[in-house]
Amino acid sequence: MKSSNHIKSAEFKISSPKFDACPKTNESEFAFIGRSNVGKSSLINTLTSKKNLAKASSTPGKTQLINFFLINKEWYLVDLPGYGYARVGKEKKNVWNQMIQEYLLQRKQLKNVFLLVDCRHKPLENDLEFIEWLGLNGIPFSIVFTKSDKVSKNELQKNIALYKRILKKTWEELPPVFSTSSLKKEGYEEILDYIHLVLNINE
Ligand code: GTP
Ligand code: MG
Repeated sequence: MKSSNHIKSAEFKISSPKFDACPKTNESEFAFIGRSNVGKSSLINTLTSKKNLAKASSTPGKTQLINFFLINKEWYLVDLPGYGYARVGKEKKNVWNQMIQEYLLQRKQLKNVFLLVDCRHKPLENDLEFIEWLGLNGIPFSIVFTKSDKVSKNELQKNIALYKRILKKTWEELPPVFSTSSLKKEGYEEILDYIHLVLNINE
């Protein structure tokens, strides 16, 4: 990766409990989303080379706010609440869903959504539904296969191929795909390169 694509500064700015409270900024935003426990906070820490920028924990459902991090004083990394967490009540889940949908549909500076999926699992119904929804609403997204250290290279390729096969049934064009390990610090540079590519296109 180009060394200039490395993250030089990352500052937590604000947590928003609802869409209306999102900061009134103009910088480009890149959002990260996925089921709880998929490794979102860990990936954000890996991308930014910070140990504790996003709180990584083994307790699912910890991140329930929209968190904004200003990167290189240039763009925002946005940590969206995990969906599909069964242990919260229905009412709370609907509040989350509404907040996420409003953000994704209305945030003009949103440039790309990185959807994280665990590379060990077969495509899950609510991830596929979410992909469908992103596609139908014309929201640009990429898929990030997390925890790649947990499977062999062979198995990883097999699981990614299965995902692509399923998406091909509905979509002519497949989204960009990344695979990462926050444990081994692998795969994150490709994501940063992609973000810079999109930033340059939008300049
Ligand atoms: P919520 O905030 O609860 O939605 O979870 P999250 O998606 O932010 O996940 P988090 O980063 O907190 O990671 C969940 C668990 O998976 C933690 O125990 C992490 O240590 C572990 N984990 C995350 N990424 C990796 C990885 O790349 N490899 C391995 N082996 N474990 C990981
Ligand atoms: Mg988290």
